[in-house]
Amino acid sequence: MNALRILSDEHQALAGVLHAIRFMLKKVAAGTLEPDRALFQAMVHYLDAYAEQRHHPKEDRLFAVLKTRTDDGAAALATLAAEHAAGPERIATLRRALADFTADPRTLGAFTAAFERYADFYRTHMMLEEDTVLPLAHHALTPADWAEVDAFFAEAAADKGGEDFTALFDRLVECAPEPIGLGARPYAATR
Ligand SMILES: [Fe+2]
Repeated sequence: MNALRILSDEHQALAGVLHAIRFMLKKVAAGTLEPDRALFQAMVHYLDAYAEQRHHPKEDRLFAVLKTRTDDGAAALATLAAEHAAGPERIATLRRALADFTADPRTLGAFTAAFERYADFYRTHMMLEEDTVLPLAHHALTPADWAEVDAFFAEAAADKGGEDFTALFDRLVECAPEPIGLGARPYAATR
């Protein structure tokens, strides 16, 4: 059941990035932090490229196998499938608000509101997975199912065609202000 551990680790990383963005927005609003727009962009990119594009397909595979084993959780699975499918639209809204903020700092309030909607959505989404669907999978899948799902996850991890998200995450941590990050340098300086 490596898959469950991997999904849990990924949720932790995503929750960490959501927390970091919220923390920075609060400080920017309070006037105690100069916004690092490149860092905001990198974090939103992480949410898009990692959460929506790399993380969700793995869950979809696990959920598809779960569906073959039980009808329990059917409503939750339908909700999650619809939410995964709406990813591009969700991230486009957030990107638009960030682009506006990058062009005009006076739109901080609108970007913050757009981000809060995204973060609230994502928290609820992860809770539905963690509280309802993953425990169900834990009990319903057979050892052969887990072998299949774990193999799919291993294949996804070995696919180095994409970005190095571990390195990206490390850079985000390096640049995020203390105490959530190291506050070491502006994001643009890490390239
Ligand atoms: Fe998830």
